[in-house]
Amino acid sequence: MTSAIPVSAIGLPGHHAPAAGYEAPFEMLDACHERVERMLGLIQRLQQHLVEQGCDASARQAAQDVMRYFDLAAPLHHEDEERHVFPPLMAGPDAAVKALVLRLIQDHRQMELAWVDARSVLQTVADHASQPGARPWTGLTVWHQVKLNDFARLYRQHLDDEDQVAYPAARGLLSEATLLTMSEDMMSRRGISPKSEQG
Ligand SMILES: [Fe+2]
Ligand SMILES: [Fe+2]
Repeated sequence: MTSAIPVSAIGLPGHHAPAAGYEAPFEMLDACHERVERMLGLIQRLQQHLVEQGCDASARQAAQDVMRYFDLAAPLHHEDEERHVFPPLMAGPDAAVKALVLRLIQDHRQMELAWVDARSVLQTVADHASQPGARPWTGLTVWHQVKLNDFARLYRQHLDDEDQVAYPAARGLLSEATLLTMSEDMMSRRGISPKSEQG
């Protein structure tokens, strides 16, 4: 990122809701993971931008976008998993998967705590008054970077474990009827109906 942060390419919090059907809920979960990856990438680029370009309007906008995503969409996503993905795995036969699920739930709590710290840094960026010529922005301390990078590291490992182990295992355990119920619950908790769209 050398000039502006491409926040317009990031998209808004939430899910694009596909047509209702037994495959829909995991499509929605996958789409959420893709958005999280983009937001973690934006956190990384934001830090570089602050050092190279200072705390300008595009940096403040990027900080707002990341806060909006993790304030609104991430808690819904964690709840999706704790309501629909993890329970069938805990009731299943695979001891290694059960141990992983326990860790994934602990991760959620740890990520919530890490988000408080990361968010405070982003709020500082978002609230910073523009000061032309202030490069690099000395407001970004090493401790700020540790908070942002700790949050991103936790999330990245968590996404890998879910994508590679938990989601494939859960897909194999859920019936079409259960998947449809799951899909309906996920959409209804977002106040959307099948075939509508929430950006
Ligand atoms: Fe998760
Ligand atoms: Fe997830």
